[in-house]
Amino acid sequence: MKDIHSRDISNVAIIGGGILGAQIAVQTACFGYTVFLYDSSAQAFDLSIQNAAAAMKAGGKGPVVPIEQWEKGIRKVVITTLMEAALKNADLVIEAIPEDLELKRRIFAQIDSMTPQKAILATNSSTLPISKIEDATQRPEQCLNLHFYMPATGNNLVDIMRGSKTSDEVMEAGEQWITSIGCIPLPIKKESFGFCFNRVWRSVKREALLMWAEGIVDFRDIDRAWMTAFGTEVGPFGLMDFTGLNVTYAVELSYYNESKDERDKPPEALKAMVERGELGVKTGKGFYSYPNPEFALENFISGKIGSLSS
Ligand SMILES: NC(=O)c1ccc[n+]([C@@H]2O[C@H](COP(=O)([O-])OP(=O)(O)OC[C@H]3O[C@@H](n4cnc5c(N)ncnc54)[C@H](O)[C@@H]3O)[C@@H](O)[C@H]2O)c1
Repeated sequence: MKDIHSRDISNVAIIGGGILGAQIAVQTACFGYTVFLYDSSAQAFDLSIQNAAAAMKAGGKGPVVPIEQWEKGIRKVVITTLMEAALKNADLVIEAIPEDLELKRRIFAQIDSMTPQKAILATNSSTLPISKIEDATQRPEQCLNLHFYMPATGNNLVDIMRGSKTSDEVMEAGEQWITSIGCIPLPIKKESFGFCFNRVWRSVKREALLMWAEGIVDFRDIDRAWMTAFGTEVGPFGLMDFTGLNVTYAVELSYYNESKDERDKPPEALKAMVERGELGVKTGKGFYSYPNPEFALENFISGKIGSLSS
């Protein structure tokens, strides 16, 4: 386990303990930081940890730290139902509440008013550049995007992007802190809607969703193709189930709202799944059913291939 710490960061507050907030909190706690987590729902953290465990099982992949360490990390996260208690000694705050600009701006103003002046404020938003949020605070030069993927299932990449006023020191501290928690920073050189790898992943998602919604192919065949071509345990539709289809829908909608391009509009069929409560791993049904999704079965790919003639 690494014990390098960013010089000025020892207390980290996570605001929003859903799928991603919970995973960021555990990853951070595993590397020796004091982590406070606040969510408006008292059960959020425990539920999200259960979902992360289900995603690990289905995807056959665990965190970058040994699993015992990860389990210890869960116990180290201090859960609080008082936002102020989470924030009052924070050196770094990571917001991971739903993907809604007005909500995030409101919460940033609250965070700003409850957090020591020197603290860095980050959003884990999947699409919203910090430049759209920073002026809700009195410290825009200390705000940045830190966009995590799924550290619990081994994806320890983090996009890191500055706003219009972010100082170089804050970018450097952010990058150094990311490496100190066993993650790989992907600094973005100029503002980019979708950041770095998330933008690449997004183009895959858009095409895969359109092909499914237009009835061009069975979504399972896209996953089979992906898993075979890239040697992964899960394909794009399985990954969207891990992310949560409500989150996927909100993210796709953000891209559409930005571009107004009809090809960016998330399919109605995806919206209908969200309305039916088919959100993926967290509700037990999405494109696949959980805890034993079809893509994890031994014959998911081999079942499509004829046997060798003797
Ligand atoms: N799911 C992913 O794969 C993923 C990946 C990267 C980034 N993100 C981003 O992270 C953010 C959170 O996504 P998620 O998937 O964890 O969502 P989620 O729905 O699982 O969790 C959001 C959490 O925020 C809590 N919340 C709502 N309003 C709140 C408030 N006012 N104060 C405190 N807590 C509040 C909810 O109770 C919930 O637990 C979004 O911006 C999303 O775009 C998600």
